[in-house]
Amino acid sequence: MERAPCLDILLVAPPGLEPVLAEEARGLGFAPAEPVPGGVRIAGGWPEVWRANLELRGATRVLAQVGAFRAMHLAQLDKRARRFPWGEVLRPDVPVRVEASSTRSRIYHAGAAAERVARAIREELGAPAGDAAGVTAAVTVRVRLDDDLCAVSVDTSGEPLHKRGHKLAVGKAPMRETLAALFLRQCGYGGTEPVVDPMCGSGTFVIEAAEIAHGLLPGRSRRFAFEDLASFDPAAWARLRDRPRPPAPPLRFLGCDRDAGAIRMAEANAGRAGVGEVIEFRRQAISELVAPEGPPGLVMVNPPYGGRIGERELLRGLYGTLGKVLRAGFSGWRVGIVTSEPALARATGLPFPPPPAPVPHGGLRVVLYRTGPLA
Ligand SMILES: C[S@@+](CC[C@H](N)C(=O)[O-])C[C@H]1O[C@@H](n2cnc3c(N)ncnc32)[C@H](O)[C@@H]1O
Repeated sequence: MERAPCLDILLVAPPGLEPVLAEEARGLGFAPAEPVPGGVRIAGGWPEVWRANLELRGATRVLAQVGAFRAMHLAQLDKRARRFPWGEVLRPDVPVRVEASSTRSRIYHAGAAAERVARAIREELGAPAGDAAGVTAAVTVRVRLDDDLCAVSVDTSGEPLHKRGHKLAVGKAPMRETLAALFLRQCGYGGTEPVVDPMCGSGTFVIEAAEIAHGLLPGRSRRFAFEDLASFDPAAWARLRDRPRPPAPPLRFLGCDRDAGAIRMAEANAGRAGVGEVIEFRRQAISELVAPEGPPGLVMVNPPYGGRIGERELLRGLYGTLGKVLRAGFSGWRVGIVTSEPALARATGLPFPPPPAPVPHGGLRVVLYRTGPLA
């Protein structure tokens, strides 16, 4: 059995945004932070796993590879899975679920592989099977067979990391926090300038931006699956999580929406996130938008787009108004617009260079259109 002295950790990224997450990971001191399809690889021990979950704003989840062995057929998989040192990672009192995938391997039946590993954990360690007979799994083990090598990873996050624990109220098409954070980063946002979202819905962009500016750790309010692992050290975790915050910058954020319900939700979400004091929310239509007093910053918005909410012709008019208002009143501001429709982005009349590749979001492929400072 091969066991690495230090964990091979995969930070799962939204497809297409691996390099953006790699840049964030490097900035937080993770190494080697190498982008691979579907994520970013880092190395480290359990403290790095905890820190990745706590600090990374763009990662979807954090998978820690805890071992690997060769398996040519199911009997061999069964034998080696039974000898695996599960007790170093899993607890006998915590329900576990096993998921498996297989590529280029003699064991091609992923379901059978998952079943063997689950049985080995149950019988050798005594951990109850999750998701059976009404038992909810607290921990998921992922078995990946590739080229007859069986890599065993643990999902250390549990609930996906966009669930920060503050946005309990959402509107029709909310942006995931992880995606919002990566789009803000792609627009060069580093927490030192104001951000305006003129169609803020549940407030994701401005809340995320205010948290970045205030040095609030994205995972500060939630639980993680790693808290249910044998390797967890509650005292070390508490020291990592409960660090003093840097001084608050004198920045203000503005979120607007014409929908009163959206504004109420956004205010409640911002309050729960602890940034309600620094974000002003206004119920107003895009046509009434004026730039806030003070230095320019970033306008970040995902307007409604086709197929989800509203009609295309009406949307063309809406995007036209957005572009007109920004060109007339937001000199010096940069703009980031997330939409699935190139024609709607063009309808703004804003000077967008060719955008980066589309990113899957809510069943559509969305694109981030960016400008430099407006004339
Ligand atoms: C796709 S949603 C934005 C979602 C938001 N980013 C979030 O994370 O919840 C688009 C928002 O634009 C708002 N909207 C549509 N037309 C508007 C207008 N003319 N002026 C202001 N807001 C408008 C809608 O009420 C909706 O909340």
